Order: sequence, then C-alpha cells, then structure tokens
Amino acid sequence: MDTMLEQTLRSRTPASSQRLLPVSADPVSYANHTLNVRLMRVQEQILRALLDPPRIVNVPSGNNWGKTFLAAVAASWWFDHYPDGVVYAMGPRKEHVVNVLWGQLRLLRRELDTPWVGPKAPEIYDTPTHFALGMTASRGESFRGRHLGRKLFILDEATAPEMLPYFDELPTMFDPEAGDALMLLYNPTDTASRMYFEDQKGQLPGEGALPWHRFRLNCLEHENVEAALRGECPPFPGAVSLAQINDWVRTECEPVAEGDVHRPSDFFWGWRYCPCCGGSGLVE
Ligand SMILES: Nc1ncnc2c1ncn2[C@@H]1O[C@H](COP(=O)(O)OP(=O)(O)OP(=O)(O)O)[C@@H](O)[C@H]1O
Ligand SMILES: [Mg+2]
Repeated sequence: MDTMLEQTLRSRTPASSQRLLPVSADPVSYANHTLNVRLMRVQEQILRALLDPPRIVNVPSGNNWGKTFLAAVAASWWFDHYPDGVVYAMGPRKEHVVNVLWGQLRLLRRELDTPWVGPKAPEIYDTPTHFALGMTASRGESFRGRHLGRKLFILDEATAPEMLPYFDELPTMFDPEAGDALMLLYNPTDTASRMYFEDQKGQLPGEGALPWHRFRLNCLEHENVEAALRGECPPFPGAVSLAQINDWVRTECEPVAEGDVHRPSDFFWGWRYCPCCGGSGLVE
C-alpha cells in the first residue's frame, strides 16, 4: 500500500480498523518507522529480548537511562502488534503511572489514532482482550484473576516497596504458553526490596534461579556519555549525561584528603572519564 493511500485510510477509518493495518513484527522497526523514534543500542536489545523465551527482561539500571521510555515503546508495540494484546503497566505511585509512563506513551502515540479512555486516565481500550492499562501499586490496583489475551506485564520502579504485592500475583498470571512477556525495570538501590532479592536469587546458579535476560545498565556506558567523551553532542537529550554523572560523584562521594590512608574502594575521578583504563585513571 503506498504511503499516501495509507495516510488517507488512516485519517478516514475508525481506530479499530486502523489497527488492522500491518504493524512490524520487529518492535525496533516499529519504533523507528511507526513511532518515528531512534532507540539506544541496549534499548533495541532489551526490546527484542522480549520476544525470546522466557520473554522476561530484568533491567537493573542507573538513573535516567531510558527505561520508562522503553516501557512505553514496548507497550505501544504490544498493543498495536497483537490483536489480542493486553498490557498491564505497573508503577508505585499515581503520579508516576499517569504523568511519566502514560505521559510518555501519549507523546509517542500522538500521531496515531488511539482509543484513549479519557484525556488523563492511564488506559487504552479496544476490546476486553485488547487494551493497555496503567496500574498504581499504592492504590492497591491489581491484575489478579484476569487471564484474557496475550499479556505484557511491566513493573517500572520494581524496587519500590509499594510494588511488593505484584511479585506474588505475577506467578498466578504470567503464562509462558500464551506468549506472555515481563519487563522488570528498576534502580537497584534498595537491597531490602523483593526485586533485589529475586535478582540476587537469579544470579546464583542452582535451584530457584529465575530464567531471564538480564541487562545491567551502567550510566558510564550510556551512549550520551560515550558521545560526550568524544566531544560530541548527546544523541539522546534528556537521558543521563556526563555532566549529570560528574555532579552525582561530586555530591555522593567524599574526596580523599592529602595524607589520608588509601582504601581499596577509593577511585580517581577527573572531569573526563577515561574509557581506555576502565575508568580508573584521570585524563589530562
Ligand atoms: N530512545 C530515546 N529517544 C529519545 N529520548 C529518549 C530515549 N530514551 C530515553 N529518552 C529520554 O531520556 C529521558 C530519561 O528517560 P527515562 O525517564 O525513560 O529514564 P529512566 O531510566 O526511566 O529514569 P529513572 O531512573 O529516573 O527511572 C527522558 O526524557 C526520555 O524521554
Ligand atoms: Mg523511569
């Protein structure tokens, strides 16, 4: 179908018929061509890992990497690609689900005809087996007992204490046979959280280990930081930057004073992080 004809059809057809237009089976291609966004290399890998059994991605990450953005891309593709696709996107607080996660989804889909449920609600609804729903853990919203459709579960900020109940509900809902998928996205800061515990369990070989694709996202390896070190502009403005990391180090760390005993955990930090020596040396 040529593009002009497709555009005309899009503008004239109701939302449900529009979604019958073919949508790429590759979520990365969908992001590039339907949502018109470019993804970071690791975002592409994570998205594609959602299609690879066990279709669970576990993403402990530094701040401001691009996790919530990726969750919104995944939710959009899942809804558009699977006629019986159902998305449950969970976050700890209403403000996060409505303004951050759903805010991102609304921005990404601003050119697409979408059956939003109202101007603010975190919900897209087509049929009982085809919808996307944002849920707030602190309000006790639950997906327990809902078994229809091919489900994508997203736990954003999975280490937040409010997210705890979802870890008990997931095993009763997640159906690998149905092609369900799960995204676990978090900053691994709270060692007392259930997510941290599950991650550590999965790290150990042997019984009880959870099978998943694990992506540990280090801010020092972000494409914005790599670009800054080459003296180039950050390719993903808004995501973590070298200046931001320098600030974090300055505020979170204590300088080793002249004459202090050096400890194994001490490290050098300069204005520029040196990729050649793995970050342990200063660059003049
Ligand atoms: N592929 C991309 N293209 C353009 N902008 C992006 C992309 N990925 C992320 N961003 C932008 O980077 C910023 C940070 O992204 P996001 O909020 O998803 O990070 P996060 O890892 O969820 O952060 P946090 O650790 O605070 O939860 C946002 O402004 C987002 O729009
Ligand atoms: Mg986030």
